[in-house]
Amino acid sequence: MLTMKAVRIHTYGGPDVLTYENAPRPVPGAGEVLIRVYATTVNPFDCAVRAGYMASYLKHTLPLILGTDVSGVIEEVGAGVTGFTPGDAVYTRAGVSRDGAYAEFVLASAADVTAKPKSLDHIQSAALPHVTLTAWQALFELANLSKDHTVLIHGAAGGVGHVAVQLAKGRGAKVIGTAGLNYGTLESLGVDQAINYTTTPFENIVHDVDVVLDTIGGDTQQRSWATLKQGGILVSVIQQPSEETAAAYGVRQAMVFSSPPIARTLTEVARMADAGQIKPVVSIVLPLQDAQRAHQIIEGKHTRGKIVLQVVQ
Ligand SMILES: NC(=O)c1ccc[n+]([C@@H]2O[C@H](COP(=O)([O-])OP(=O)(O)OC[C@H]3O[C@@H](n4cnc5c(N)ncnc54)[C@H](OP(=O)(O)O)[C@@H]3O)[C@@H](O)[C@H]2O)c1
Repeated sequence: MLTMKAVRIHTYGGPDVLTYENAPRPVPGAGEVLIRVYATTVNPFDCAVRAGYMASYLKHTLPLILGTDVSGVIEEVGAGVTGFTPGDAVYTRAGVSRDGAYAEFVLASAADVTAKPKSLDHIQSAALPHVTLTAWQALFELANLSKDHTVLIHGAAGGVGHVAVQLAKGRGAKVIGTAGLNYGTLESLGVDQAINYTTTPFENIVHDVDVVLDTIGGDTQQRSWATLKQGGILVSVIQQPSEETAAAYGVRQAMVFSSPPIARTLTEVARMADAGQIKPVVSIVLPLQDAQRAHQIIEGKHTRGKIVLQVVQ
């Protein structure tokens, strides 16, 4: 049996359960490709899986390799796969409900894989799939954002937020963004009106927006209802908004549970990246061996853009 280096968990718990070790190298089945991972990223989702919060939703088996983002190169194709040959540079989201990309190799359904952006390296490309699919689903599929709209994006400098800002601007919408420690970076992302949530209650100055994108939940979600115009929509990626509260405000609500078609959307995202319309922000790059540290940092809840784990130096 061939082996590879991977970061696995054998039990649920804190960052210290992440173990860099040898693991079996996977073999592609029918319709699958084996990708040599050049870079992956850390998402709050990975921390939730690691802590066991997803155990009742996703049928994971332990030991488990975490990680959903992947940018890399096709190593091997399974039976029936056409359109890919070893050596192709690709990116995707993989491993949501099985072994993921904190490893030298990861399996993906060939139907979910597409060419990575040509103008970005693997570190930058890996930063895009998970957060961009989420922002795309929220803004375009659920909120139907258009150029005449104003959108309030919470956590606008974070992983989801920083690509959401760019997608919304690309659509021609007006963007209001909130951040605290990362407030100073909002303008460079293209935010039209930046709000420092540590000094300014956003609900005092934001009114009549068409869309709220909630990446924070709790009190931030509650205080967001009053910022919407009649008929507007609050879309959360973190906490199911109340149907009753939405009705009381005369607005709509939605929660991101799924993603848009992965390969089709990431192909369009690659085109936008190559056209300079989406620029991933990578604030920290660590070697795969430092996954524990990467989890500690993202759990501080002040990440700017993305934290990338580099697998091939
Ligand atoms: N449903 C889904 O499919 C899905 C997909 C992706 C993510 N998510 C969830 O969405 C959430 C965000 O993910 P992410 O990847 O963007 O996280 P992240 O990269 O860790 O970013 C979090 C951001 O939130 C900002 N922040 C913290 N407190 C804030 C507040 N009170 N108001 C406004 N901004 C605040 C931080 O900026 P400052 O330092 O400036 O405060 C930071 O940039 C996570 O809970 C994640 O699990 C859900």
